[in-house]
Amino acid sequence: MSNPPTAAFVVVANRLPVDRVTLPGGRTAWRTSPGGLVSALKPVLQRNEGAWIGWHGAPAEELEPFVDDGLELVPVPLTHSEVEEYYEGFSNGTLWPLYHDVVAPPEFHREWWEAYVRVNRRFAQRAADVAERGGVVWVQDYQLQLVPAMLREMRPDLRIGFFLHIPFPPTELFQQMPWRRQILEGLLGADLVGFQHQGASQNFVRLVRQRVGHKTHRDTVYLPDGRLVTAGSFPISIDAESFEKLARDPATEQRADEIREELGAPKHVLLGIDRLDYTKGLRQRLRAFGELLAEGSIDLDDAVFVQVATPSRERVDQYKVLRDDIDRLVGRINGDVGRIGRVPITYLHSSYPKAEMAALYRAADIMVVTPLRDGMNLVAKEYVACRYDDQGALVLSEFAGAADELKQAYRVNPYDINGMKATLLQAMESPDREKSRRMRSMRKYVSEHDIDRWAKSFLDRLAGSETHHDKHPRPV
Ligand code: F6P
Repeated sequence: MSNPPTAAFVVVANRLPVDRVTLPGGRTAWRTSPGGLVSALKPVLQRNEGAWIGWHGAPAEELEPFVDDGLELVPVPLTHSEVEEYYEGFSNGTLWPLYHDVVAPPEFHREWWEAYVRVNRRFAQRAADVAERGGVVWVQDYQLQLVPAMLREMRPDLRIGFFLHIPFPPTELFQQMPWRRQILEGLLGADLVGFQHQGASQNFVRLVRQRVGHKTHRDTVYLPDGRLVTAGSFPISIDAESFEKLARDPATEQRADEIREELGAPKHVLLGIDRLDYTKGLRQRLRAFGELLAEGSIDLDDAVFVQVATPSRERVDQYKVLRDDIDRLVGRINGDVGRIGRVPITYLHSSYPKAEMAALYRAADIMVVTPLRDGMNLVAKEYVACRYDDQGALVLSEFAGAADELKQAYRVNPYDINGMKATLLQAMESPDREKSRRMRSMRKYVSEHDIDRWAKSFLDRLAGSETHHDKHPRPV
């Protein structure tokens, strides 16, 4: 493989912003990678020249660095067994459920951990090759928690930031992790460790004190070698302006009208857009909607639900089970309460380009976002950004990070099906004036707290953070 390009600003994430997929017939193509991380970081990197290091989504394939959509991309290869053990295994069978309130049981396997260490070292080595002397490397998310310390050992000249896009678990749950100390030490290789939520940042500092034994004061960790590590909360956001621009495009409006027509022009279009993941509360929201129809609280002529479920981690057992469950549940509800020409739930197991998403947001009267636990949930913010008419209602789980910021949403506890039914009805019946008061205030918040502000606040803090405690005497 040829020498990679070098850059003063480097993003390291498990995935590149594009995924290499094999189409039926064997041809390969590039597709936008799933998930909020990519949609949030892509505009950041497009505006700050730099390189993006990540896996290209296909196993056992070594690719040369390439440029896509103005971005310098540096692929990291994974073998078939590394996809199984590092990505599907430790990242998504151990860390993902553990960090999401153990809503599914995490599995702990030593071979998975060994693969995680090996692959993290490969990412760190790639970053060490690409980053210019004195440059900034920004490591992303739970798949790469060991990279900061590995990279610091290879390249002590760099400024290293880490941001966790998902929740960081309460200390009681984190303690289950057999390799808890190694993970904390991995993160401590960064100068700045960022979380979505202040509580997560506090959990991290507390765990470092308890488990690694370092001195801490407020959000600062004092390492024995004189280095300082800062922890902080930086709630992530979206490129609000570009979503609004897309929403205002006449082609988007026209497509939104078509969608409503195709759905039978009902009074209420309810919409869910999620990766097909057991943390997203899909079962709960569909059951709530189905029960409202079955008991006659809403009329089939008045309301339909569109659920887009983007395929995700399809070879992981818990995701296979979920897919079957949702298929069955949708089939049952449609079979029980539907009739010829009227299907209550339109279920789309697919991913869509940004323009189609914007049209769906425009077509939806009620956006239903009901995760059991979610670091942020950018779909909620995208919906708000697209409602430039101040219409529409957002039903939002109190367990999504976004609920801390979008305070005017219709809040629900997704574990409480009756409560969720009542809130869905409330949102449907609210007068336009009430909905527009709520939406206006959320739109103001999202447009003021956009992705540029998020990236700037993290990167400014990283640039300005003290790295040694000569100026800050260590607490005793
Ligand atoms: O933010 C959560 C996250 O896991 C990202 O790290 C990831 O890019 C996205 O969701 C999609 O998940 P996956 O890459 O496993 O398809």
